[in-house]
Order: sequence, then C-alpha cells, then structure tokens
Amino acid sequence: MNSETSAPVSLRRHLSAWANRLRGREDPNLRAARQHRSFDAMSGILAWMLSYAGDRVPRPGASRGRALEIGTGQFMAHAAGLHVCGYERVLTIDRYRQVSIPLVRASMESPVLSRRLLSPFVNHDDFVGRLGRLEATGYDPSGLARVGVEYRAPMEAVALLEQPERFDLVFSYTVLEHVPPQEIAGLLSASARLLAPGGVALHFVDMEDHRDPRTAPFAFLAPGEAWGEAACGERGNRLRASEWRRLFREETPLDWSFPYAPVRHGAPLPEQIDPRVKAVDVLDLRTTALVAMAIAPDSPQ
Ligand SMILES: C[S@@+](CC[C@H](N)C(=O)[O-])C[C@H]1O[C@@H](n2cnc3c(N)ncnc32)[C@H](O)[C@@H]1O
Repeated sequence: MNSETSAPVSLRRHLSAWANRLRGREDPNLRAARQHRSFDAMSGILAWMLSYAGDRVPRPGASRGRALEIGTGQFMAHAAGLHVCGYERVLTIDRYRQVSIPLVRASMESPVLSRRLLSPFVNHDDFVGRLGRLEATGYDPSGLARVGVEYRAPMEAVALLEQPERFDLVFSYTVLEHVPPQEIAGLLSASARLLAPGGVALHFVDMEDHRDPRTAPFAFLAPGEAWGEAACGERGNRLRASEWRRLFREETPLDWSFPYAPVRHGAPLPEQIDPRVKAVDVLDLRTTALVAMAIAPDSPQ
C-alpha cells in the first residue's frame, strides 16, 4: 500500500470539518478528541488493559522496552500514553494515514486524570517529565520520532516482520473489528510473531454495531446485503466472541486468555440472524467486547 491510499481519508476529513464549521456545528472528531478520545479517557483504557497483564508489565521506575500499537487512528492518545508509561520506543502503525495533528493536540489539551490513572505504571516525576517532552514536540511526527514515538502509515503489521525488531508489548484498541474476516488470520499471526520473548499481547475488540451502539448494538446481525470492506470499516465485521477466541487460538501459537467479555442482555436482537454470522448460542451473539491477552514464551520457540 502506498501513501496515495491515505489521501481520500484526510481529504474527506478536511471537507467534513469545513462543512461542519460552515453549518456552525462542532466537528465530531474534535468533540471525540475532547471526550472519549481525550488523553485522559484513553489513559483510563490503557491502565485498565495493562492491568490485565499483571506483573508482566513493569512497575514504576523500571525500563519496559518497545511497544507496538496496531491501528493508531486520528488521535494518537494510546501511543502518547505508552510513551508516558516509559516505553523507550513506541511504534504506532496504521493501514491508513489518519493522524491529524490538530486532533492530537486537542486530545492532549488538558489532561487532569491521566497521571492518577497511569500511576500504577509510572511514578509521578517520570510522568510529568515524559508528558512535558511530548508537549514540547508540538505533536509533529518528526518531533515525536525524536522522543521515541514513531508513526508509520500506511503500514501493515506483516510488513514489519521483514525487520528484526520485536516488541515487549503489542497492543490494539478497537481496530480488529474493522478488519475484513478474510484478513484477520494473517494479521493475528503477524502480530503474535512480532512479540519479543516474554512480550505481552493485548487487544480490545468492540463487537457492537458502530452505527448506533447505544440503542441498536446488534442491528448489523440481521440478514442483508453482502458485508464487504466498507461495512466492516463503518460498522464492524460482525464476528462474535466464539469466532474471535477460535481465531486467536488457531492462528497463533500463543496461550490466550479473555479476561473481559461483557454480555449485553437488555438490547434487542434482530428477529432473524444473518446465516453468515457464526455464533454458538445467544450469549455469544450478545457478547459485546473482548479483551484478548497472551504472553509470548520467555525463550524463542
Ligand atoms: C476505530 S479506529 C481506532 C483507532 C485508535 N486505536 C483509537 O482507539 O482511537 C480503527 C483504526 O484501525 C486502523 N486499521 C484498520 N485495519 C487495520 C490494519 N489491518 N492494520 C493497521 N491498522 C488498521 C484504521 O485505519 C483506524 O485508524
């Protein structure tokens, strides 16, 4: 994939931001940067996910090596959080070049909670020092690279296997559910092979319909048209928890655990389920998210 693939994404985003401004509406991406994609909110998510790795994630003051984030998105808040937590190198990659410096700045605007939320992983002085170094870059990619946070997009995880670098943490958040089903095996296999000995893999998969997750989280399970790449990008690939568990276990040599798999009982299921959706039972259909965690063997196999 070359950099031309990213042009339509950023062009669309600019046009939509302008249209919103002309209509006097707040840009929804800017609102996200200040709310659920703010550095504070994303630090909460990061701390929660890292906590599943127990003592495999070093404690304050300890060196913790290299982290790879798959699927940066627009805001870069998790890459920033991993840097602040002390990863000396953070490589964050995306299939599409989506990062927007104004949105990164908006996300980082006024962190209040993050130093409390990340305190199990970084001591206070180190937090303040690292956040200050990040701020001094202005969140420009070349400045970020100088402090150890490298953004590469367009970039596929499998392409990283050509280099010898391996990672102590491989992390993703709300990315895998956007990958078309036929590509998932390759991505999971590559992401497992990118782990250094003893490295931690942590992935969060959001299995709700992204169109209206609040009131219709299962609407996309109804029979309908072909479910192609665009639908996977917009609403999610519809894979249910049992399929995810199978894919993680069959496509990688790792011993996965799934410490978070909430079931949503209150929201309506469609009367009929698309026969292309594989599920073992109703609880499987109603499982709305998954954290997948694995630790690579301490010595290479
Ligand atoms: C919903 S966004 C989440 C971004 C970010 N993790 C966050 O929480 O803000 C999904 C991201 O995954 C990226 N993505 C989708 N498929 C990918 C793949 N195969 N490899 C790397 N990134 C991918 C998309 O380009 C998009 O930036």
